Amino acid sequence: MSTIEAIRSGPEPPTRAVVLLAKSAFAAAPMWEMHRLAERIQRQRGAGETVAFAFSEQGTPALRDVLLSLRDSGHSEIVILPLVIPLEPSFHAWLGRTLQRWLADDPDNWPVIRIAPAPEDAPALDGLIGQLIDGSAARPAVALSDKPLPDASLVPAQRRRVLVCQGGPCNAAGADVIWGHLRNEQERRKLRTVGEGVMTAKSTCLGPCNLAPVLQVFPEGTYYGGVTETGIDTIIDEHLLGGRIVAALAYAPTGRKQALRG
Ligand code: FES
Repeated sequence: MSTIEAIRSGPEPPTRAVVLLAKSAFAAAPMWEMHRLAERIQRQRGAGETVAFAFSEQGTPALRDVLLSLRDSGHSEIVILPLVIPLEPSFHAWLGRTLQRWLADDPDNWPVIRIAPAPEDAPALDGLIGQLIDGSAARPAVALSDKPLPDASLVPAQRRRVLVCQGGPCNAAGADVIWGHLRNEQERRKLRTVGEGVMTAKSTCLGPCNLAPVLQVFPEGTYYGGVTETGIDTIIDEHLLGGRIVAALAYAPTGRKQALRG
């Protein structure tokens, strides 16, 4: 049973939920580590609170899915605890803006949401770091690997490329979660090998910052602006798989100034 199914199918929910928020996980093992951590903290906090975990970028479950699940299962308060050190100053800003966008979809139905302080602000962190340093004595020392580097690599055959801007204005507008949603859908829908094949990558500023968050699809070079998770789903269906540019979100690479519509 997935974390989200477990939240939905539990007994009468406690009023408060805690979401342990990590940035990314690219494989099953780190996702399982988060699962174990949530279980440990659940035991510590007791049955009076629900403890869940989520990823703000790539990795499942995604933050939005967990929040929707907690909302729909009747929790009245959600505390998001970012497990990120160092926490960039912009993190709280984009998280706040992204939450506002999600809450705006159904403003009357959401519980109170709070964002906990960064871990580096916790007084007990010094003791924890001391324990970890002392614990290193029991671990093997790092040795140089004698494995040779591969002498050849596959050159990707995928025809489509999606660049997701990670410049400052795009990040402040929620580009991290857009990237995470795209990567999760790329995995889930096997986009690397379906149709013409899709590769995805992060980029520095793509240019039209006023359209944030921005992504660009090749080979056409189409810019998409003001992109949300729903927009990503439409771009996948229409453009990446269907070959049709999504006019409502698209900005042609004309070399002229364009403003965000709607
Ligand atoms: S920061 Fe994204 S287009 Fe400039």
